[in-house]
Formats: sequence, structure tokens, C-alpha cells
Amino acid sequence: MAQREQWGTRTGFILAAVGSAIGLGNIWRFPYMAYDNGGGAFLIPYFFALLTAGIPIIILEFGIGHKYKGSAPLTYFKIFQKWEWLGWWQVFVSFVISIYYVVIIGWALNYALLALNLGWGDSPGEFFFSDFLALSSGPMELGGIVWPIFLASVVMWFVVWIVLFSGVRRGIELANKIFMPLLFLLLLVMLVRAVTLEGAAEGINYLFKPDFSAIMDYQVWTAAYGQIFFTLSICFAIMITYSSYLPEKSDINNNGLMTALINCGFSMLAGVMVFGVLGYMAQEQGVGLQEVVGAGVGLAFVTIPEAINLLPAAKFFGFLFFICLVFAGMSSMISISEAVCSGLMDKFSWPRKATASILCLVGFVLSLVFMTNGGLFVLDIVDHFINNFGIVLAGLVEVVLLSWFFKLDTVREHANALSDFAIGSWWNFCLKVITPIVLGYMAIANLVGDIRVPYEGYPASALLIFGWCVVVVIIPLSIAMQTIKSNWASDHKA
Ligand code: PHE
Repeated sequence: MAQREQWGTRTGFILAAVGSAIGLGNIWRFPYMAYDNGGGAFLIPYFFALLTAGIPIIILEFGIGHKYKGSAPLTYFKIFQKWEWLGWWQVFVSFVISIYYVVIIGWALNYALLALNLGWGDSPGEFFFSDFLALSSGPMELGGIVWPIFLASVVMWFVVWIVLFSGVRRGIELANKIFMPLLFLLLLVMLVRAVTLEGAAEGINYLFKPDFSAIMDYQVWTAAYGQIFFTLSICFAIMITYSSYLPEKSDINNNGLMTALINCGFSMLAGVMVFGVLGYMAQEQGVGLQEVVGAGVGLAFVTIPEAINLLPAAKFFGFLFFICLVFAGMSSMISISEAVCSGLMDKFSWPRKATASILCLVGFVLSLVFMTNGGLFVLDIVDHFINNFGIVLAGLVEVVLLSWFFKLDTVREHANALSDFAIGSWWNFCLKVITPIVLGYMAIANLVGDIRVPYEGYPASALLIFGWCVVVVIIPLSIAMQTIKSNWASDHKA
């Protein structure tokens, strides 16, 4: 078998891992999640989730990826042959995310260009939904393709293709060495601008002021856990894949800790930046902060443009904000696609260039559905189901299998022998006990919630097709992948 590709430097690997972690989730998802879930009080479950699940799992994934040197399916296969399907399950979850994630980056690219002459006009809300997305009446009415979104998504898929095609060192590592420093620089510029605006302190206060009653609410806890899994890109096959490209002598524990902390630090700064600007807007309009904050998609594509309209040098800062989203999103998008690409390459011994080409082509065709008039609705449904069931369940199965049916200590010893600092048995406890309890609870609570109340009142047929079907079908598909013969079995025995 050909020699596995490797990162050029330790910094290159960390930048790539951080690049995967920092994404749309940090710039728009984190601020509104914190805001919606008790402001400062959200940070308590958030840090709890980071310490007891986020950091232990990232170390676990770096550990197994490095020890077994494979994409997720190959790594699980090497741990225990019958677990290969778990790797494919995570690969499929990643693939589903990638086909809509790329379209959101496409929106951001459009908005970066629109910002240059504040093309969203005086009522960004109306512009976004009726002019830009040209939204249909619901998910079952897809309508036609929306061309500006189509074009931007083509550009994005093209970039992904070039990067994957060029390989680990000359593609992924290089792209992150460009995107990441630029991203930090841009964030810094915007941060300085945001905190020096009048009224910024009000906004930031609002984000961090704790509403302690929220801590007793289980939904705040599940939101915090969900955010940690999403933001750290764990249980997505990604971190396993990336660490499989580490050279023999590589730190595991410290790399994991650094990736997690840099990512969460970035989220905090992005939160301060976004809420600083919102505080300014509230003050300019003489209204309370609650009235200016929109949730979800609305925050980035409606509220922020409204705020940008009021800024001095609006066009410049508007462009910066959306270009930041593009850079942050691209580095994550590359990682999700690489997780899929690497799985296929390992399984079928296909060459990288051909695999990347087929993957991007198929991905592109499937992502067409999100570029239609009904695209946003479909996106909303798929995103909800894949986050609430796909990730939570695949994560639960991962921690339960690895911590109860496999000797965790083999990974801990492997990691400790190589790392700057050693991890203790608290790590086993977090993975064996705390995380499965919380994830198990989340899975049940989400299931009950979704059965009781249909998500967002969408029609049952749409929820069935784009929601339940997607999350269920990928499971037999993963099992089918395991049954396909590969040359692993013989390699493994040899
Ligand atoms: N971690 C990325 C973010 O915060 C998103 C992501 C999710 C990346 C899933 C890969 C897989 O936006």
C-alpha cells in the first residue's frame, strides 16, 4: 500500500484542526446560542461540556487517528472489524452537512460582494428572504434554481476540489496556512472597531449577563453540548482523519487542548464582536437590545446587515464580516469533505485525484436542492435532524463503544507516551460515565420533543423526506459499506 500522506509541520496540523473547528458555528451560531440560552449562564454548561466531553473526545479522536492511521472507517475497522460501519455513519453525517454548509458559504460570498455597495438596501430582512433567496411557500415547493446562489456555490465546490485534489500538505495544509492567519487578522480589526462603538458595552453586557434561572433548564444543557460537538467538529470522522496524517512522533494531548481552547477563544471574541455591533445598533435606533437580535440564519444575514448599514465605513466592514464567514466556512468545509474523501480512498484504494473529483461532483449535484427557491426550508429541516439525531447518536455510539467495549487505556498510554503532558484517569471517567449519560439523555429528549411537536410546524411529508429519512437511511447505508469487500482485511492480517 502507498505511504500515507503527512502534515509538513506541527503548526500546519494545528492550523488545519483549528480551521475545521472554527467555522460558521463560531461566528453566527455561538453568539445567538449563548444569547438564547441565558447569556452568561450558558457559559457554565458550555465550559462544563468543553471540559467533560469536548476536550476528552478530541484527545480520544486524535489518539485513535494517530495510533491506527486511518480515515474513520479504517480506524474503527482496525480497532474492531465489526465497527467499520460506525466510521461510515460519521462519514455520511459529514457528507450530508457538507452539501448544505457549502451553500451557506455561497450566501456569504454573495453578501461579501453585496456589501461593497450595501446591495441589501434599507430593509435587509425583506431583501434576504424575498429578493435574495426568492423563497417559495414551503419545503415541498422547490421551484427553480436561484442563480447567484448557484454561481457562488459552484465557486466554493471548485475551491474544495482544488484543495482536496492537491493533497494533505500542498492542499489542505497550505489552504489553512492562508485562511487562518487572515481570519484572525480580520477578526481582530472588526473586534477593535466593534468595542469602540458607542453602546457596545450594553450589547456585550447582554451577551454575558447571566440569567441563572436558565441553568436549571435541561434545554440549555443540551444546547451547550450540541454547540460543543458542532464547534469542535468531533464525532464527524474529521479529527480522526486529520490526526491520521500526523507523523510518528507527534504530541496528542497538548494538540487537542490547544485546538479546543483556540476554537472556544475565537467564539468568545466573535461573540463580543457581534454583540458589540448589536449594542451600537440598539443605541442608534433608541430601542432595547432584545428588539434588534434575530436568531439563527437571521442573525448573520438580516441583523448584521442592518447593523452594518449604520456603521461608519459600512461597505468596508460589511465586506470584512462576510469574507470572514467565507474563510471560516471554507476551512471547515474542506475538512468535512476530506473526511469523506479519505474514507473512500482507504476503502477502495482509489487515487486521491479521482476520488476528490467524483466526491465534489456528486456533492455538487446533491447540493443543488439547497440552491432552489425552497432551499432554505430544506436546509433548516436537514440541519435540525442531522444535528439533533445524527450527531448526537453517532457520538453516543462512539463514546459507548470505545469506552465500554474497548480498553481506553491503550489510547491513553499511547497519547501520554508522546505528549507534552499526561492525562489522568479523569479522562476515562468523563468518557465512560459523564458523556454517555448526557448524550443518552439528549437523544431521548430530542426524540420525544420531535415526535410531540413537528419541527417548526413543517408539513409531515417534508419532515419525513428531508428529516427522518435522511437520518435513518444513512445507517443501513453505513452497514452496507461495511459489507463491501475491501483489501483491508488482507492487509490487516498481514
Ligand atoms: N466546526 C465547524 C463550525 O463550527 C462546523 C463543522 C461542523 C465542521 C461539522 C465540520 C463538521 O462551523
